[in-house]
Amino acid sequence: MNNAVILAGGQGKRMKSDIPKPMFKVLGEPMLEWVIKACESADLSSLCIVKGFMAEYIDEYLNGRYETVLQSERLGTGHAVMQAREFMEKNSGGNTLVLCGDAPFIDSDTIKKSLEMHINEDNSITVITAQIEHPHGYGRIVRNKDTNRLNSIVEEKDATEAQREIKEVNSGAYWFKTADLLEYLGELTQNNSQHEYYLTDSVFIAINKGRNVNAYISENENVVLGANDRKGLLELNTVARMAVIEKHLENGVEFTCTDGVVIGRDVKIEAGTEILAGTQLLGNTVIGKDCVIGPNCIIDDCVIEDGVQLNTVQAYKSQIDAGVKIGPWVHIRPGSHIKSGVKIGDFVEIKNSTIGEGTAVAHLTYVGDSDVGKKVNFGCGTVTVNYDGIVKSRCEIGDNCFIGCNTNLIAPVKLGKAVYTAAGTTITKDVPDYALAIDRGTVQIKEGYSLRKLKKRLEKA
Ligand code: UD1
Ligand code: CA
Repeated sequence: MNNAVILAGGQGKRMKSDIPKPMFKVLGEPMLEWVIKACESADLSSLCIVKGFMAEYIDEYLNGRYETVLQSERLGTGHAVMQAREFMEKNSGGNTLVLCGDAPFIDSDTIKKSLEMHINEDNSITVITAQIEHPHGYGRIVRNKDTNRLNSIVEEKDATEAQREIKEVNSGAYWFKTADLLEYLGELTQNNSQHEYYLTDSVFIAINKGRNVNAYISENENVVLGANDRKGLLELNTVARMAVIEKHLENGVEFTCTDGVVIGRDVKIEAGTEILAGTQLLGNTVIGKDCVIGPNCIIDDCVIEDGVQLNTVQAYKSQIDAGVKIGPWVHIRPGSHIKSGVKIGDFVEIKNSTIGEGTAVAHLTYVGDSDVGKKVNFGCGTVTVNYDGIVKSRCEIGDNCFIGCNTNLIAPVKLGKAVYTAAGTTITKDVPDYALAIDRGTVQIKEGYSLRKLKKRLEKA
């Protein structure tokens, strides 16, 4: 059986932060999660995560999902793998993939193809590498001049001038025969400029024992990219962000300007939809065809059908049906279902409510915990008063109701079909079908009143 050991013990001092480096996020997901997902999609389910700096942070995040071991002091990548000895001994007949928790772009294709090479060539170690333009900071792959086979991995700090010119670098991911790895771990020394146990030294040890060692050059050069500081993290985010956008471009999604556009990896968008600047599409959001989303939207975990237009909208965990137009400046909170043909205008908040087909909520309105029928018209400033400070209650509004401006609906309350409410009315009891509800004092007019006041006011000024 094959295992994976993910190294996530490092601090990342240059991040200047109190969280473990592999927990920094790329496109909204911790780098560690990217690495875990790559393993999962390569059908590796036996995973062990080495934690160290701020281990409790990683425990809390993983919540028991995978086995972990603690590296109580940071003595290098070789030392980190040593902590997983017991985990590996359980399956020592198979192979172990070692991965860096701070290199998120390792992919399942690379994992599978490198394993194929590892098995076909009967290698003791297969190092995953890539050729990159700027190799600075990475371990260099030194090959034998005659055979072109891997000779050793030399760290930047230990490399000669000539070795620093090498553009093939170590991704920090390798396949080992598990039994061999256990053997090499016992032979690592701290004999280098950083006085660390380098896992990379196992290559040299294996070759000296006459074992097969080779390097698999990944087609995806991003596999090596890691973040050692905030600038590196921003670069990773840019790479990931543009890769997702490119995938959508290929699928026929339109972008005229990608400034501020962030799309999560799991988001699905159909062809013909246009995404405008400043828009973040997150979680498991699904968007149909011919929509215009943006500018300036945050859409998280929503299902959006065809032909929807959203302008400056934030929407969370909700469903928006075909042909709906929303915005600008609208907040759709979790649990809402906006049915087809609805129009929602500026400064409206909808929470945990269903809005029926063809209904209009044009301005300055709060609809919370409500079931609204079809073709209802909300006047400006309507409020469903759903909370009395202790419990939340629902409002029901029948089809074709016409809600006057500044109506308050004190929940729980039900308006029947086609009810009219007069502007400024506070509804405290159910209203039957086809009725008008009106709640108004008589307007009193006091003639000449303001003339006296006005004189005093003008004198004061
Ligand atoms: C390592 C490799 C280098 C490779 C690079 C790829 C070694 C000696 N060098 O260098 O050849 O090009 O990765 O990114 O292996 N970690 C621990 N405990 C430790 C030290 C590190 O868990 O004591 C973890 C870190 O959290 C990180 C990973 O191991 O996820 C790599 O460690 P890092 O210190 O970043 O190694 P590099 O210097 O980048
Ligand atoms: Ca690193």
